[in-house]
Amino acid sequence: MKRAILSIIFALHIGAGAIADEGMWLPMLVERLNYTDMQKEGLQLTPEELYSINNSSLKDAIVNLGGGFCTGEIISDQGLMLTNHHCAYSFIQKHSSVGNDYLTNGFWAMNKEEELPNEGLFVQFLVSMEDVTPQVLSSVEGNMSEMERGNTINAAIDSLQKAAKGDTHYDIKIKPFFGGNEYYLFVYETYRDVRLVGAPPESIGKFGGDTDNWMWPRHTGDFSLFRVYMSPEGKPAEYSPENIPLKPRYHLPVSLSGVQKGDFAMIFGYPGSTNRYLTSYGIKEALEISNPTRVAIRDKRLEIMKTHMDANKTIRLQYASKYAGVSNYWKYFIGQSQGLKRLKVYDQKKALEDQFTNWVNQSEGRKAKYGNALKEIEQAYEQIEKFNQAYIYYYEAGYAPEIVKIGVKFKQLAETLSEDGPDSSKVAGLVERIGEYSDDFFKDYNKKTDRDIFIGLYDMFYENVDPQYFSSTFNALSLEDTSNFFSGFEVNETGDVKALADFVYGNTFLVDQENVESFLKNPDVEKLTSDPGYKLAIDVYDGFYNMYNKRKEAQEMRNRGRRLFIEGLRKMNPDKKYYPDANSSMRITYGTVGGYEAKDAVYYDYTTTLEGVMEKEDPDNFEFIVDPKLKALYEAKDYGRYGQEGKLIVNFLSNNDITGGNSGSPVINGKGHLIGTAFDGNWEAMSGDIAFEPDLQRTISVDIRYTLFIIDKFAGAGHLVDEMTLVTDDSSNKEPVKKKRKRKKRNNSK
Ligand code: ARG
Repeated sequence: MKRAILSIIFALHIGAGAIADEGMWLPMLVERLNYTDMQKEGLQLTPEELYSINNSSLKDAIVNLGGGFCTGEIISDQGLMLTNHHCAYSFIQKHSSVGNDYLTNGFWAMNKEEELPNEGLFVQFLVSMEDVTPQVLSSVEGNMSEMERGNTINAAIDSLQKAAKGDTHYDIKIKPFFGGNEYYLFVYETYRDVRLVGAPPESIGKFGGDTDNWMWPRHTGDFSLFRVYMSPEGKPAEYSPENIPLKPRYHLPVSLSGVQKGDFAMIFGYPGSTNRYLTSYGIKEALEISNPTRVAIRDKRLEIMKTHMDANKTIRLQYASKYAGVSNYWKYFIGQSQGLKRLKVYDQKKALEDQFTNWVNQSEGRKAKYGNALKEIEQAYEQIEKFNQAYIYYYEAGYAPEIVKIGVKFKQLAETLSEDGPDSSKVAGLVERIGEYSDDFFKDYNKKTDRDIFIGLYDMFYENVDPQYFSSTFNALSLEDTSNFFSGFEVNETGDVKALADFVYGNTFLVDQENVESFLKNPDVEKLTSDPGYKLAIDVYDGFYNMYNKRKEAQEMRNRGRRLFIEGLRKMNPDKKYYPDANSSMRITYGTVGGYEAKDAVYYDYTTTLEGVMEKEDPDNFEFIVDPKLKALYEAKDYGRYGQEGKLIVNFLSNNDITGGNSGSPVINGKGHLIGTAFDGNWEAMSGDIAFEPDLQRTISVDIRYTLFIIDKFAGAGHLVDEMTLVTDDSSNKEPVKKKRKRKKRNNSK
C-alpha cells in the first residue's frame, strides 16, 4: 500500500513533468502567501531580497516598457537592459531603411556613442506599492448605482494619487484588483531616455516567424538590449546627449550554469491582462462571436499586407512591424478558440458556476448579496450580443485603414480652428504636433497598400455588419442613400467599395505627405472638414464610439456581476489562495523547469538546441533562414563557456504563469540569478489567459547562454557581456528541494 502510494506520487511527478504553479502574485504579498511554497520549490533568497521598499531588491532590476507592453530587466551597473526582440521590433524597424536594414542584419552599438535613442519609449521602475482598498472604497455605499459607484471611486483615486504624488517626480497609479474588490497604489520612477544597444538579425530574433509563434519546440533568439540613461545629476530625464548611463539600484547577476529539470524558476514582470474569472457566458461569446470575427478580419488584412510586402522591399520594411502586431493576436485567437474547445473550458466554468449557485442558495444573506451576480452577467452578455459583432468590426476593420488613423489626428485641430481661428497659439502647437506625427506616419505609409486594406476590409464590413449599425461611410455605399455624405461621390452599384476607395483616396489630402504639409502651412477649417478622408475618419471614429457607448451600460451591469461573483467565490473557498487577474502591475510567478505531455503519445522535452535550428533551416523560407555566421559557429561547435556538453541550448520551458506583457521578463533561479528571458506561451494552452492548465501550460524562454553567445560570438559585442556580472552556481546547490506534495486536482476556481 505504502509503496503504491509512493509510486503514484512519483508517477504523477514525473508524468506531468514539473508541478505547475498557477498564479501571478503581487510582490508585496509574496512573503505572506507564497514564500513557504517557493522555498519548498528551491528558492534560496529571503522575502526581503525579492521585494523591499527600503533596501535594494530584485524588483529594482525589473522595468515595464511603455507602461506595460513588455517587461525588461537591468543586467549591468551601467543600466544595460534586456528584453525580447519582438518588444524592440517596432523600434528596430523605425531605425531601419532598405540601405540600413537592422531588422534583416541586426544592430550592435560597439560603443555608447552608437546607441540609438527611441522617441516615445520609456521604462518604469516600481518604487513601492500599497493596499489602498479602504481609502478608495470609503465613500462607496451599498445602494449606489454602478455609475455612482464608479464616479465615487474615481474621485477617491484622483485625490489619493495627487496626495501620493505631492511634489515628487514619481508617477502614481492606483489600479483595481479582483474585479474592483481591492485597490492598490503603485509608485513608479519613469525614465524616458532609453537607447537601443543591440538586436540580432530577424533570422535569429524571430527565427520560425509566424509558423513557430506560440509554439514549442522553439528555436528563437528573441532578445534585444537597450540602455537606460539618466541626467548627469542622476535623475530621470528626457533624451539628451548629455545624459549618462543609469546607475541602477540593483542589477541581475547572470548565470552561466543553465537549467535542469525540476530547477526552481521564477519570473518577475508585467503581465497585461488575463480573464481567469470569466464566466461560461463569456466563453460562449468568445467562441461564437469575438474570436471568429477577429480572426476572419485579420485573415484578410494579413493577406493584403503580405501581397504588398512580398512585392516590394520598402513596403516590406514599412509594414513589418504592423504585420507582426496583427498576426501575433490573429494566431492567438485561433489558438484560444481551439484550446477553449479542446479543454472543455465552458464546462469547467459552468461547473464552477453551478457550485457557486448552490453555495449562494444555502443562506438568505448570500442570496441577498450574491443572488443576482451570475444573472446580471448573463443579461449583460445578452444585451451586448446585439451589437457585439458590429463593435468588433468597427475596431478591427473600421480602424484598419491608416487613413483613419491619420485623419483622427486632425480632429482637435478642426475643433480648435473653428473655435479659436487659425491664428491662435493653440493651433500653432497642434500644427507642430501633427507635423511631427506625419513625418513618422509617412515614413511607413504606402497609399496603395492602405487603399487595398480599405477595399478588402470595408467590403467585409459592408457585407457582414447589420446595416442598422452603419455609420454614414457605409450608408454611402447604398444606391438608396440620399444623404450625400461624401459630396461628389455617387455610387453606381450598391456596395461598390472600390468606387468609394477611388473617390476618397483620389480626393483627400491626407494620403500624401506634401499635401499634408502644405495644408499645415495654411490650415483651413473648411478644407479640412470637407476633405473626404477626414470625413471618413471622423465618421468611423464616431461609429466606433457609438457602439462603445451602447456597450457601456451593459458592461456596467456585467462589471457589478463580476465583482460580486469574485467576492462570493473567495468567500466560498476561504482557504484557497486567490490571485488577481493580470492588469499590467508587477507580478511574480514561480515554478520549475520541465517539459510536458502535449497530446497522446507526444512528450516534449524542456530544452531545444542549435541542432534544432539547423534541422529547421530552409533557405527558401524567410522564416527559417539561418545566418551563415551562425552556421559557421555551429559547424565549429564554437560555443565556449556558453555551451553545455558540446551543445548550445537555445530555448527552455518552465511552468510559470505568464501572459502578454510578460514578454522580456527575466527568468530567475533559486539563487536570484538570471537564467533566461521569457518570450512566449505554448500552443496546447492558448486558452490559458482564461483558464490555467497545469499539465499543459508552459512559459518559453531564451536560455541566457544563447543570448550571451549571440552577443559575444556571433555579434562580436563581447564588451557588453563584460559589463554584466556573470556567475556560476556551484553544483551543490543545483539540487532543488524535492517536493513531496500531492497534486491536488484543481477545479477552476481561482
Ligand atoms: N507570441 C509572442 C508574444 O505575444 C510574440 C512572438 C513574436 N513573434 C512572432 N513571430 N510574431 O509575446
